[in-house]
This record gives sequence, structure tokens and C-alpha cells, in this order.
Amino acid sequence: MSADTAAPDAFRRQSGPFRGGDRVQLTGPKGRLNTITLEHGEIFHTHRGGVEHDSVIGRPDASVVLGTTGDEYLALRPLLSDFVMSMPRGAAIIYPKDAAQILALGDMFPGATVVEAGVGSGALALWLLRAIGPTGRLHSFERRQEFADVATGNVTAFLGAEPRNWSVTVGDLVEELPTAVAPGSVDRVILDMLAPWECIDDVADALTPGGVLICYIATVTQLSRVAEAIRATGEFTEPDSSETIVRGWHVEGLAVRPDHRMVAHTGFLMTARRLAPDTVLPQLKRRASKTDFSDDDVEAWTPGALGERTATDKRLRKAARAARASADRAMAAEANVPGANAPGADEPDAGAPAT
Ligand SMILES: C[S@@+](CC[C@H](N)C(=O)[O-])C[C@H]1O[C@@H](n2cnc3c(N)ncnc32)[C@H](O)[C@@H]1O
Repeated sequence: MSADTAAPDAFRRQSGPFRGGDRVQLTGPKGRLNTITLEHGEIFHTHRGGVEHDSVIGRPDASVVLGTTGDEYLALRPLLSDFVMSMPRGAAIIYPKDAAQILALGDMFPGATVVEAGVGSGALALWLLRAIGPTGRLHSFERRQEFADVATGNVTAFLGAEPRNWSVTVGDLVEELPTAVAPGSVDRVILDMLAPWECIDDVADALTPGGVLICYIATVTQLSRVAEAIRATGEFTEPDSSETIVRGWHVEGLAVRPDHRMVAHTGFLMTARRLAPDTVLPQLKRRASKTDFSDDDVEAWTPGALGERTATDKRLRKAARAARASADRAMAAEANVPGANAPGADEPDAGAPAT
């Protein structure tokens, strides 16, 4: 992490009247949504005229402002859920509905020491940083440098600075974790990766007794494999598994019904708590032998076999550049540097999966 990273309390304000450097979602007359970064003297140009940034700066959040041709625009400060859904992506993100469950099931608390792998696009990292607050510590691990770059850009773009209480280590969690944290010093671990079972022994060493392990898993075959790996260590409570299904509703007059479309599946969550050393669960009925799954099975869990779209290097480099540029604009706008809101900001396709 660079030396000019900011203390968490230096982050951009997320409420109050709009000011220079703030990101703002403008919804125009046809419902079209654009996100801009406010800068004194700048104009957001549309094909129907434009909106002067100074007409937004100083207004309360959620105000309606007039464009240069009299059109009305609703100005809203994006919520974190808005930001993560539209930010540049290297890897698939954890959706807000699952992030919310991770914060609850994982009992994330201010001041917690948390490990996550892989950091991917940085979506979960943003939720975790918010939950643990300035006194917490987040150690993120990522196997691929390009993904680490995308995540760093996204976190910096949202917060306006790179937090001092966050580190991103590039490398495999199994190799990096033992040297990055002291044994028994970590309160919470979140694994979001193809083969979490490869990391369970090292995670057990890092977790404090009573600490929580959460695995976010895409398929039932992986769910089964990681449950058996957790049981086989004898170092955790019995794992709990769940999925979170959120169904939106259309509520208008007498037309009250579920939405026609929904995101039906994202992933499963599995949680287990680290036992104190030498503790044996009274109710432990059986321990799965590691040979329940062969090496051939592990070979089968490739992104392609699981139906995951993999990012080409070119798309990934583009996402990393977009995230970095967004972070640079956010930091420049914070420092009131002219040109912080140069054309190309918030490209409409920035949130598209980099595949
Ligand atoms: C689905 S993405 C994580 C997305 C992230 N949670 C988010 O919300 O943006 C999975 C990431 O795990 C990384 N990964 C897989 N195995 C890993 C390991 N053993 N150590 C570190 N990173 C790993 C991959 O490179 C990939 O970027």
C-alpha cells in the first residue's frame, strides 16, 4: 500500500449537502441514469443541454435540479449498493443481498480483524471496511494482480482514498496467510473462491477461538466439498448452510404482485466457528475422510466446468484501467484539482462483467 493512503476518518462524507468531489446519480426526464463526480465550474452535457455542477453543489441530497434547458433532474448520492453494482468488474462480485447476510451471519463488528480471499472486484471489501470501521483491520488476498488492481481502484474510487486499515496481498491465500497474520489473531474469515477447501487448515490456524469462517460458494458440489473439509479438520463447529433469495414486488394501486424477473441464484453461504485448541465437539458424530473426494474431483472444479465466465486478459486490463481512472478522478476531485471530472468519467458500460 502506498504511503499516501488515508486514515479511514478522512473518507468522503456519505451524507449531507452535495459538495465538490461527491459522486451523484442524475436521473433525467426519460428516466436515464448517469453518475457524475461534482466539480465547481463543470457541466454535465446531455443531448438535451446539460446540468451545471454548481446547480447541484450545496443542495441537499435527493434534490431536483434544473438543467440548462429547464429539464428536471433528480440528484441522489449513490448508495454503496448502487456503487458496487455499477463499478468496473474483474471478477463476479458478491451481490448486496449476500453481502448483507455475510455481515450478519459473520457478526462483523467495529474493530474486528478480518481476512477475505479473493478480493476479486472489491465489492465485499467495501462492505467489510464499512462494518469494521476505522478501528478494524481488513486483510484481503488475491491470486491475480489484475483483480487486485481492479479492487484497489474501486475501493479508492468509492471512499476517495485508500484506507490505511486495509491491505491487499497478491498471492495464494494458503501461501500468504501464515506470514501475513499471527496464529489465532483473526476474528473473521470470508472465502469467496473456487476451491475454499484448499485453505481450511490455514484459516483454522489464523482464526481466534470462537472466530467465524464464512464461505460463499456458487454450486452445490462445492458446498458439499467444503462442508466435508471443514468437518474433517475437527477444529470447527458443525457448518451451517443457507442461501438468500430476494424477490422484488411491484406495488402500485391494486397491481400488487411479485416482479416478473429476479436474480434467482447467486451463491450459498456456509458458516462455522473455530473451536478452542484441543476441543472436541460433544455432538461430533463423524469426520469425513479426505478420500471422500479424489484429486480428479478437484480438477473438475474449474471455472469452465462450473459454467463461470472467465475474463480475458484484455477485458481485465480494461476493467483495471477503468477502476484506476475512477479512483484517480475521485482523489483528484477530493483535492479540487482541475480536470478531475474529465470526459469518460463513469462510462456507462463500466459495470459490465469483464468477460
Ligand atoms: C468471485 S471473485 C471474488 C469477488 C469478491 N468477493 C467481490 O465481492 O468483488 C474470486 C477471486 O478469488 C481469487 N482466488 C481464487 N483462489 C484464490 C486463492 N487461493 N488465494 C487468493 N485468491 C484466490 C480469484 O482470482 C478471484 O479474483
